[in-house]
Amino acid sequence: MKGIVLAGGNGSRLRPSTSAASKQLFPIYDKPMIYYPIAVLMLAGIREILVISAPESISPLQRVFGDGKRLGLDIGYREQKEPRGIAEALLIGERHIDGRPSALVLGDNLFHGPGFEEAVQEAARTVDGCVLFGHKVFDPCRYGVGGFDRSGRLISIEEKPERPDSDYAVTGLYFYGADAVEVAKEVRPSARGELEITDVNRAYLAQERARFVTLEDSVAWFDAGTEESLFESACYVHSVLKGQGERIACLEEIALRMGFIDAEACHRLGEEMKDSPYGRYVMEKARRSNGTR
Ligand code: G1P
Repeated sequence: MKGIVLAGGNGSRLRPSTSAASKQLFPIYDKPMIYYPIAVLMLAGIREILVISAPESISPLQRVFGDGKRLGLDIGYREQKEPRGIAEALLIGERHIDGRPSALVLGDNLFHGPGFEEAVQEAARTVDGCVLFGHKVFDPCRYGVGGFDRSGRLISIEEKPERPDSDYAVTGLYFYGADAVEVAKEVRPSARGELEITDVNRAYLAQERARFVTLEDSVAWFDAGTEESLFESACYVHSVLKGQGERIACLEEIALRMGFIDAEACHRLGEEMKDSPYGRYVMEKARRSNGTR
């Protein structure tokens, strides 16, 4: 399965903070925002990842991850010249997807909590049409929203509806079968001139090939694209660290746990950052895992 992170957009909702730096490089507490969606793909077992971003953000993002080998990944980069919609990521990623199933995650989405890892692994194993992840929200108008019949079956998806059919937002994580690029090619630009991912998902729904997985309330989800949610997500990451001693989306730790790198390699990565609490945490995780250091 192939992974795509769409780290596009011009960050207009976060001006002036984004006037010189891309939002996906902003720290969410202890690490850049883009770590969080990369972590989601890694937890699903995905190692071949394409990062799509605005032209000026590509080289800073490359400085963060390089080709990904140090994390046991294979990371490539492609430009999205203008923010022309989320579904364009599937077209830009056509060569990378190469006719395989894929997972697309937005560069500002953070997920964490019990059962989440199992849910994405299940989706990666079983996806045929599309798998969407829903989360209950108090302000559905901001999102894509699922509508359901009495038996709880997904019957509609609307993008930023004025009168939402439910409180369930479609989060920015989408799993697709092998035909995603073909489906995306059929989508026409919306009134705001964008290729909407909601239209791709609707096409799958029309074929009765869309599955909606409702995330438990105990799973935290943030779309960190506004000043408030950016701050709230950092508070959440901090509170998990204080309460449970765990760093969410620590990629070195995940790479170790998923068997993408060994304890030695993980320790080396931590050592390079040993002046930071994050680096020392990585070293500690590596030490504990092989018990020899
Ligand atoms: C996008 C999608 C929307 C989805 C949201 C999740 O909206 O269009 O369907 O619910 O991401 O983060 P955006 O945040 O780009 O406005």
